[in-house]
Amino acid sequence: MSSKIKIRIEKATKVFNTFQREYPAKNPRQKRVKKLKRSHIFAVKDVDLIVHQGEVVLVIGPSGSGKSTLLRCVNRMEDLTSGSIWIDDICVTESKADIRKVREEVGMVFQSFNLFPHLNAFNNIALAPKVIKKMGKEAAFNKANGLLRRVGLVDKAESYPEQLSGGQQQRVAIARALAMDPHIMLFDEPTSALDPEMIKEVLDVMLSLARDGMTMLVVSHEMGFARAAAHRVVFMDKGEVVEEGAPEKIFDDPDKERTKRFLKHIL
Ligand SMILES: Nc1ncnc2c1ncn2[C@@H]1O[C@H](COP(=O)(O)OP(=O)(O)O)[C@@H](O)[C@H]1O
Ligand SMILES: [Mg+2]
Repeated sequence: MSSKIKIRIEKATKVFNTFQREYPAKNPRQKRVKKLKRSHIFAVKDVDLIVHQGEVVLVIGPSGSGKSTLLRCVNRMEDLTSGSIWIDDICVTESKADIRKVREEVGMVFQSFNLFPHLNAFNNIALAPKVIKKMGKEAAFNKANGLLRRVGLVDKAESYPEQLSGGQQQRVAIARALAMDPHIMLFDEPTSALDPEMIKEVLDVMLSLARDGMTMLVVSHEMGFARAAAHRVVFMDKGEVVEEGAPEKIFDDPDKERTKRFLKHIL
């Protein structure tokens, strides 16, 4: 791990404005009154976080604590309400930031694979290098083949997503993200939609990426992965970072009550 900072998140806050319907009229003869009540949710609140080059940072926390929103703000799938995020020397949160460059630098893998259903595994991986990187046919072929080998799926090149198991689809999704040669990978609960027997094959690919020095920001509650790969664990609750530290510290001897309470559910 180097001391170079790859991701710098400063005072990141994301507020979602929502409208809730209210039906105050209970009397059936009265006309039903529709009222829209404005409310807002602090999905992410004053989060500071730094990820160094080659570091694997694991984000844990209850459902709704803002983990996905934080990740989505890093590659500008969501805009922050206030605060800033830097990837290397690009300020992602500036309105004139080169989002394409950010998306090339930062690969993302989701819980729900999101593969293109009409393309086979090979073409799912080769599409972005061809279209976005304008790679020639042969270079794209080599790239996609190399990545299929890397995730252990050379024999599935011709298979369409619906012909693949969840674990295989997720490995194709990882290969697809790697096809842009990102320097940073974001994983949002990559194994939580998978049957237990498929979790390991996906975690093994992530582990090998981590060992090769990929900078990773990972939302996951897989303890085996956390202990084997994470350099640091960040516990979030209600949009805020409650506590962060080395995996041993957070899992075995956390300082905060909220962290202890949460860990009781997952350990
Ligand atoms: N697009 C959205 N519109 C409104 N509220 C949202 C939206 N996305 C997330 N939220 C809310 O923001 C909070 C954080 O959600 P999320 O980042 O998905 O949490 P997590 O990934 O930790 O489960 C939740 O209260 C969620 O309901
Ligand atoms: Mg989430």
